[in-house]
Formats: sequence, C-alpha cells, structure tokens
Amino acid sequence: HGSAPAILSAALLCTTIATPALAQPDVLFRAAHSTATTSTGHQALEFLDKELREKTEGRVGLEIFPSSQLGGERESVENIQFGNVDLIFVSSAPVASFAPAFFAFDIPFLFDNREQAYEVLDGEIGQEILAGLESSGIVGLAYWENGFRQLTTANKEVRSPEDLAGMKMRTMENEVHIAAWREIGANPAPLAFNELFTALQQGTFDAQEGPINLFYDMKFNEVQKYIVKTNHIYSPWPLLANPEKLAALSDEDRAIFDQAVIDATAHQRQLAAEADTKAEAAMTEVTFVDLEPAQKEAFAAKVAPIVDLVREKAGADLVDRLLTAT
Ligand code: PAF
Repeated sequence: HGSAPAILSAALLCTTIATPALAQPDVLFRAAHSTATTSTGHQALEFLDKELREKTEGRVGLEIFPSSQLGGERESVENIQFGNVDLIFVSSAPVASFAPAFFAFDIPFLFDNREQAYEVLDGEIGQEILAGLESSGIVGLAYWENGFRQLTTANKEVRSPEDLAGMKMRTMENEVHIAAWREIGANPAPLAFNELFTALQQGTFDAQEGPINLFYDMKFNEVQKYIVKTNHIYSPWPLLANPEKLAALSDEDRAIFDQAVIDATAHQRQLAAEADTKAEAAMTEVTFVDLEPAQKEAFAAKVAPIVDLVREKAGADLVDRLLTAT
C-alpha cells in the first residue's frame, strides 16, 4: 500500500528534471516597461522570451517586470546604463534627454502613416540615431511601436487650439513636447506614466495625450470622456539593452538573440497595427472626435515654430534629412 505515493513522487521528480523550460536560463535578461501586461509591447516581450528559450534550448530567457515596477521610463533608461535592468522598450521622448538626436522624432506631425515611420526608423536615419546611444552605455536594438498619439480630455470636446486654452495637461518627460503644447495654448507639465491615473482622477490634470490602446489598457475611460483624433505625434518604442548583458551571450546565442529581436519586432508591429481600432471599438462610453482637415491644420500651424527648437537640440543637419525623408 505504501508504494503508490513513492512511485507518484518519483514520477513527478522525473517530470521536473526532464522539463527544460523549468530550468533557469544561463543568461536571464531582466526586462522592464511602464505599460500594462495587456499592451502590445508586453506581449512582444513574452514572444521574445518564448523564442529565446526555444531556440537556445533554455540557455537564454527574459524575466519581465511590467507597469513601472522597477521605475518610470526615465529611470528605466538609467537602469539600463547601470545594469540594474537589461532590456526595456521605452517611449523615445524620455530617451532624448540621454541622446538628443531622439528629439528629432518629437517634431509634431512628422510622419504621415506607420509605413513611412518604419521606413525611416529601419533605414539609415533611424539606425544612426539608435547607434548614437552607444556613447551613453546603451545598445539600441530596434524600434517597436508606441504609435500615433491623440489628445484626451475629461470634459471638453476640443476642436481648436483655443478650446485648450490654459487647460492643465500631462505630457511625457520631454522639453519639446512641453514647448509644443505651450505653443498650442495649453498649460502642460510632465509626469511619469505610473502616476497619471491618480492625477487625472484627482483633477491635477484635465487632459493628457497618448495612443488609444494604452488609454484603454489603463482604464483612462473612467477619468477622461473625449478622445480627439489629433495624430499629433508618432511615438516610437526603442528597444534598448545593457551592453555587458549582451556581451555575456555566446556568439551562437547572440545570433539567435538578434534574429529573435527581428521576429519580435515584426510581431509587435503587427499587434500595434490593430490595437487602436480594437480599443476604440471596446470603449462605447468615450466620445471620439474626428477633426476636419482645416481644424487639424490650425493645430499644425500653432506648433510650426517647434521645428526650430528641435533643430537646436537634435542638430539642424539631422532634422533637414528627416524632413526630406518624410
Ligand atoms: O505616455 C507615456 O508616458 C508613454 O507613452 C508610455 C505609456 C509610458 C509608453 O511608453
């Protein structure tokens, strides 16, 4: 009678030993981000983890920390530099204070559509900007897609810059964004994303801006009523890594890693291309405001001087090349 549990536990032990997925990888990347586990970026990190574990037979994997658990976006870039974190996807806006060439992507209304963005980001200009991070102790691997950003408000159907006059508005931690919303006439201030829901709830801010799918993920529909489709900026998500961690990979595993990043990038962009439409369909209580071309033009006219500020920060030559390419 006493032998059955013994057989059972021996069988369990065998299963445990025989399953490579349960073993700790030799090189485990601590991966962090500031969005929810439902975000396209989180899903792409899970995809990357699975690819890496499968293709390296468990030698390489990720441990994923979502929702700013290891700090907000600005802190996450510092964490990469210090090696506290090994891999992040992060909005390009806060990265600009580490490598000013990234300010070039903050020119309002720069990209007409996502295909044009991919062409520039994956092409010479985008890759040069990523490579510029090396001197800051960061490896730029790829561009994932945060996406086109929209203006959202608690209680005002904004259709013109005048409608935004003096409105308290949250921006990302980026001087060009703050300057642009000032030009429009709003009263902007920067805030880390993890503090945003409470700030909107308490009325510290009446407006914010960001992609529709992240708005949905964060349940901002509980504290914001209008989404005004400004498409004022396309926000890339550079995927950044700590150089020493990458150097810990064997040549074979580094090649697998690079291919897995290419595949995860394609996967993420595919998810991102559908995410806003899905989120919009799911939020029936939010009022979506489509702007007429002339109304959009009024916003564009207000922010036109911002390109000079970007020239100063990112370099005139880079800005000119970017404007020619878009
Ligand atoms: O709004 C932001 O701060 C960023 O877009 C976010 C949501 C953290 C994603 O990068």
